[in-house]
Amino acid sequence: MTKRSVISGTGSYLPAKILTNEALARMVDTSDEWIRERTGIHTRHILAEGETTSDMAVAACERALAAAGYSAGDIDGIVVATSTPDCSMPSVATKVQQKLGFTGAAVDVSAACTGFIYALATAHGWLQMGLAQRVLVVGAEAMSKIVNWNDRGTCILFGDGAGAVVLEVSENKPKRGIHALFLHANGALAPLLGTDGGVASSQTAGHLFMSGQEVFRHGVEKMAAATTHTLSTIDKTVADIDWLIAHQANARMIQKIAKNLSVPEEKCVVTVPFHGNTSAASIPLALDTAVRDGRVQPGHLIAMPALGAGLTWGACVLTY
Ligand code: COA
Repeated sequence: MTKRSVISGTGSYLPAKILTNEALARMVDTSDEWIRERTGIHTRHILAEGETTSDMAVAACERALAAAGYSAGDIDGIVVATSTPDCSMPSVATKVQQKLGFTGAAVDVSAACTGFIYALATAHGWLQMGLAQRVLVVGAEAMSKIVNWNDRGTCILFGDGAGAVVLEVSENKPKRGIHALFLHANGALAPLLGTDGGVASSQTAGHLFMSGQEVFRHGVEKMAAATTHTLSTIDKTVADIDWLIAHQANARMIQKIAKNLSVPEEKCVVTVPFHGNTSAASIPLALDTAVRDGRVQPGHLIAMPALGAGLTWGACVLTY
């Protein structure tokens, strides 16, 4: 029987500190009205002093493990998507292993806001090749550490957080699991979005820069195309999906993607208003929210497209 890669638990974590649009308007020349109208965002969460990306990842993993009914000792692999690790090495993945107390394969994946899709593909490969049986797949980001808090064009968009899933081999749930993945990148588009520094260039993390309008256009076009393409590889169309869980960058962007695909708004999970763009954490955060509030049910077909710095983009289609 075909080995399936099935999500058996989801979890997420947002730091306690909330940064409102009103508070941002006291820091840069902006307003609650402008931010809500252009992005749909009204709050984002910010790491506490001393809190790190691996701390957030651990909290999300603990919740995903509890939801799946497992303890850390049942896990034999971890893939963490992040662009904002605690340190250059070791990886966030190994720090999570250390804090939770398990061993097995561990790696960080760097694909910016597409990171969770690349991480799912990595974990799916491990499961299908027999390298692991049960893997934590995590998106965790401390975006507040790389945002330029003087740039009103970007600082209003981002927030910190983490999301995780337990992905495991199953031979008993033939209809569930990952059906198709699509991964792509075009490095020629790197100047549109990134940081202006890094370990080997400035010996700092650098600060985030972005050509907002161009990234918006690429986001709409490429996430819509990735969704249609990935579904087509399994002879499905957007009419077949129960949920569109797109990268949570901007509520207006998600509305446009849905409109271009003729997906009704009721089928879109939109959590960006309360946590902002959490980069690689955004899709697992949105998935966990919709699982916990009962919208996403076992057997539902979900399309998850993403786009991020690189530019990278891709999609995953799975049955929860
Ligand atoms: N508050 C008030 N005014 C602002 C502002 C803010 N926070 N940020 C920019 N502006 C101003 C600009 O300076 C500009 O003023 P001008 O006309 O006097 O020059 C005006 O608003 C319009 O700026 P523009 O950049 O054209 O706005 P926009 O409608 O494209 O919205 C974004 C800006 C960033 C919200 C939008 O481009 C966006 O969401 N892009 C994609 C971002 C994203 O998702 N990135 C991550 C993808 S992984």
